Amino acid sequence: MADIQHEKILVLDFGGQYNQLIARRVRDNSVYAEIKPFDTPIEEIRAQGYKGIIFTGGPNSVYDESSPHYSPEILDMGVPVLGICYGCQLMAYMRQGEVSSCEKSEYGKIDIDVKAESKLFKGVPERNVVWMSHTDYISRVPKGFKVTAASADCPCAAMENESESLYAVQFHPEVTHSEYGKVILRNFLYEVCGCKGDWVMDNFIENTVASLREQIGDKKVVLGLSGGVDSSVAAGLLSRAVGSQLTCVFVDQGLMRKDEGDFVEKTFTSLFDMRFVRVNCQQEFISKLAGVTDPEQKRNIIGTEFYKVFWGKIREEAAEGFFAQGTIYPDRIESGKGDAATIKTHHNQVRMPKDIHFDGVIEPLADLFKDEVRKVGEKLGIPKELVWRQPFPGPGLGVRIIGEITEEKIKILQEADAVLRDEIAKSGIEPELSQFFAVLPDVRTVGVMGDHRTYDHLVAIRAVTTDDFMTADWARIPYEVLARVSNRLCNEVDHVNRVVYDITSKPPGTVEWE
Ligand code: XMP
Repeated sequence: MADIQHEKILVLDFGGQYNQLIARRVRDNSVYAEIKPFDTPIEEIRAQGYKGIIFTGGPNSVYDESSPHYSPEILDMGVPVLGICYGCQLMAYMRQGEVSSCEKSEYGKIDIDVKAESKLFKGVPERNVVWMSHTDYISRVPKGFKVTAASADCPCAAMENESESLYAVQFHPEVTHSEYGKVILRNFLYEVCGCKGDWVMDNFIENTVASLREQIGDKKVVLGLSGGVDSSVAAGLLSRAVGSQLTCVFVDQGLMRKDEGDFVEKTFTSLFDMRFVRVNCQQEFISKLAGVTDPEQKRNIIGTEFYKVFWGKIREEAAEGFFAQGTIYPDRIESGKGDAATIKTHHNQVRMPKDIHFDGVIEPLADLFKDEVRKVGEKLGIPKELVWRQPFPGPGLGVRIIGEITEEKIKILQEADAVLRDEIAKSGIEPELSQFFAVLPDVRTVGVMGDHRTYDHLVAIRAVTTDDFMTADWARIPYEVLARVSNRLCNEVDHVNRVVYDITSKPPGTVEWE
């Protein structure tokens, strides 16, 4: 795609755990930030014309031979630098300051005192709370630097060399526990780097649509639509750019939530100009899955079958022009840890069969974080229901039906899940939950309904809160809400006579049951 010039900040990744957060915080200030690994060549950095550079934290000590370093030249380029935590110590080390080990590590919320006038601390009270997590500290600042903040145990909580625009903080301004962290980052961007703030989603849409038009010209483009946020927003952008030159292929394997396939079709055909190709193939999937109970085997069949149908349809009617996909920024960030050249693979980036040839691959969201994708989606007029959709696994309800998947079980689970979603929406607690759904564990239990004995299905409710889905806690849904859900499930959904609530966190459980 044509490269749009906007102000850019480089987040140089030394392996810290908050690196994506730093980039997101910068972008929240309407300045574009990109993350690059610490072994990015300096010529590449110089060529990019960054307005500023942020050295991230990292788990190491600067004196470890194996710890990530960078050529001190980077500090002489005339580009402002902010070092955070490990990045702060690294800056001191690169300029011949002294880093030592603390007698006791500082961890958690710590009071610091601002000691000197500084652009970085403009609008920040003299005493404020920051989030610290370090064992090493700067025991002597380099020549030309002054200490601008300190805590009781850390004589240099911040230092700077104003004339060279080099700044460093021992704490983490990017985490919300740092009371004035946002102000400090904003000061770096606007007071130190002189940014104007040109990264706004309206501009993004306008620029992206223009460059998509230029790139696609009068050719065709095809996109696999899953009904998830990323592919939906990519479809919206592409449709705005080239209208009916876009074909969206939507494979409905019959493992989506109740009425979801129809909702996706209706939304896209009524909202956007495009060619919408829907493939309904529940029967084929069910017959492939007949008798299969092993979770991995089920996943495997669903994945393989999905791509077989998808590529088959593309071969039939859309294998020309460009292939688009909804890859987003976190899918392709190279990590500063370990082998920096390995890019994480992700379900968004699909493998193309050898016999299918496109003129190129288009990824219109490749620079965006999820929250930015959602903002773009809202601006494109995509319904909130889709834009704020909770994650839904590729294999769909297939990983929520334990044991063999049958048409009857899919129906029971779809109905149960719809009741759960309705009650959660009515209760007003939906924004507090990261993900919630019903599970059909393939367990039958004895019950009583009226005067009759029943022997029917158990439904489990799963609801979690989490920031990143790597770890999660079970959500404390109020008992009254659970009571209403349970009541309705047993009364309204045929073949359900018992309901349980999953109170397992992750770890040891996973979010999905399979
Ligand atoms: P787990 O079960 O691994 O789930 O704790 C973490 C998050 O990932 C989603 N998930 C998937 N998403 N394909 C996907 O696109 C999958 O195969 C898959 N399995 C789990 C899950 O819904 C949760 O949000």
